[in-house]
Amino acid sequence: MKKLLDKELCVVTGAANGIARAIAERFLEEGADLIVGDYDVETAKKVYGGNPHVLDIVKLDATKIEDIEKLAEAVKKTGRKLKAVLPIVGNGPQNPIETITPEEFHLVMNLNVFSAFFTVQKLIPFMSDKSAIVLISSIAGFQGGKNAILYNAAKAAVRSMARSFTGELAEKGIRANAISPGPTETKAFTDFVHGDDQIREGVVSQIPIGHIGQPSEIASVALFLASDESTYVTGAEVITDGGFTNR
Ligand SMILES: NC(=O)c1ccc[n+]([C@@H]2O[C@H](COP(=O)([O-])OP(=O)(O)OC[C@H]3O[C@@H](n4cnc5c(N)ncnc54)[C@H](O)[C@@H]3O)[C@@H](O)[C@H]2O)c1
Repeated sequence: MKKLLDKELCVVTGAANGIARAIAERFLEEGADLIVGDYDVETAKKVYGGNPHVLDIVKLDATKIEDIEKLAEAVKKTGRKLKAVLPIVGNGPQNPIETITPEEFHLVMNLNVFSAFFTVQKLIPFMSDKSAIVLISSIAGFQGGKNAILYNAAKAAVRSMARSFTGELAEKGIRANAISPGPTETKAFTDFVHGDDQIREGVVSQIPIGHIGQPSEIASVALFLASDESTYVTGAEVITDGGFTNR
């Protein structure tokens, strides 16, 4: 049976760990060639070094335009068109409204919004009429929540961008969609619950499907949205939260 991303070139950022790593590994299983970027390039090299289908491992600070341009250079060098672009980098410190500094404001917006926007913008020249953009928002993007105003607002911007990319890029045949994960088992989530099993169980108890999401469960959705399994899906947001927001 033909693999879903057979010999297709894809870019995944933040791919050393967590959700992006699960996506990259799933895409490799499905026959993709990858260019990956991460700040933590040492871990990325341990994960992908020596894999002939990982064409480049770019040391990337996704909040810096010159680093995003390096990612575009790596794609240009291949002389190939991109099947899919997945700017997954994102995160945000938990801070009460009164304590937030302008520096923190810019950091969270840069990590989540700037990084997604400019990764897409710089890679548009390498996309074709069969390309797909998959952004990672969060259920935080349509919910309130204590101590997370910046992250919530940033993820709201990301889900909005998926829709705006759709309208503007459809004439080039490029599709754009967003995944909005709920709690997902990664380091970022462990940090969020401060490694406390009781807080973790409190979260699990609010998820109708009964478990914290696995990165592989987000990767399956990303595969659907990046591949030709979803040629009529654009401007959509796939809430992938085990029912958390509809409990
Ligand atoms: N884990 C969750 O519960 C959850 C839920 C909803 C949305 N998300 C979103 O999913 C995405 C991935 O989250 P995760 O939980 O897998 O995170 P993670 O912390 O497990 O992994 C993040 C990866 O991004 C890299 N990274 C961090 N800052 C970077 C930068 N400036 N430039 C380049 N690379 C950088 C890290 O080195 C790491 O490899 C994020 O956008 C996050 O907001 C996560």
